[in-house]
Amino acid sequence: MKTIRTTSAMADWSRRLHREGVTIGFVPTMGALHEGHRALIRAARLACDAVVVSIFVNPTQFGPTEDLAKYPRRFRLDRALCAKEGVDAIFAPTAAAMYPAGFQTIVAVPPLARRWEGEARPHHFQGVSTVVTKLLSLVQPDTTWFGQKDFQQAALVHQLAKDLNLPGALRVHPTVRERDGLALSSRNVYLSAQQREAAPVLYRALQAGAAVIREGERRGARIQRVMARVAATERAVKAEYLAVCDPSSLEPVRTVQREAILLGAIRIGTIRLLDNLPVTIRAKS
Ligand code: PAF
Repeated sequence: MKTIRTTSAMADWSRRLHREGVTIGFVPTMGALHEGHRALIRAARLACDAVVVSIFVNPTQFGPTEDLAKYPRRFRLDRALCAKEGVDAIFAPTAAAMYPAGFQTIVAVPPLARRWEGEARPHHFQGVSTVVTKLLSLVQPDTTWFGQKDFQQAALVHQLAKDLNLPGALRVHPTVRERDGLALSSRNVYLSAQQREAAPVLYRALQAGAAVIREGERRGARIQRVMARVAATERAVKAEYLAVCDPSSLEPVRTVQREAILLGAIRIGTIRLLDNLPVTIRAKS
């Protein structure tokens, strides 16, 4: 397994593979790899001849008061996981390689990024769009995998790739969960034992929302209230948003039609956790 540190070496490696007719699967990450990443790597491994995993804690997607310095960095463990999964190359550039002196261009984000995470973290999606544009341009993947846990990010990246003709297809892999429903996230390592116990309330709240929809409730406000009530059962948890949205626009809906995406973010102490649950209403036969 190769570790690539510079942007030019990354682009050269991909060009060479493409010349040889090798297909490239790509999994972009910020490291601290967990079972969710492993699932993305395995999906890439199955679909493509070669797999590249990028490990880059992207500074431009963190706000000034966020956890960039504290974000878990565990390169040796990440490397071992990648080697075990048969990854062909890790792309692990330095911040100076990705954003050299004189770097100026920022990719502006679409209306999809306005609400939810976009509101809570004002520069976040601009940083994500910029780095994803750079990564896809360098890696030139045939297919790239993103996790569904970051639903808004995945929606934004689809729009970005379509609008800017970025290379390759995009795939979204279902969220991988702990047995109690907590969505896997690199930030889960920050949770104390007590916080860890409270954290699955987010998924329970989303499930409660999905359950009332299945029982016939269609009013967005009512569904939202049900989710908020469940979240409030954990005193250590502050719900930032629990929303019933249109899966394409991510705008809140007054009335659920055929499909909805339930989006949630909670704060436990200083830790923010995200999750989501898609709901499809089956036509009665
Ligand atoms: O989801 C992530 O890990 C990051 O936002 C990504 C897509 C690797 C961009 O830095």
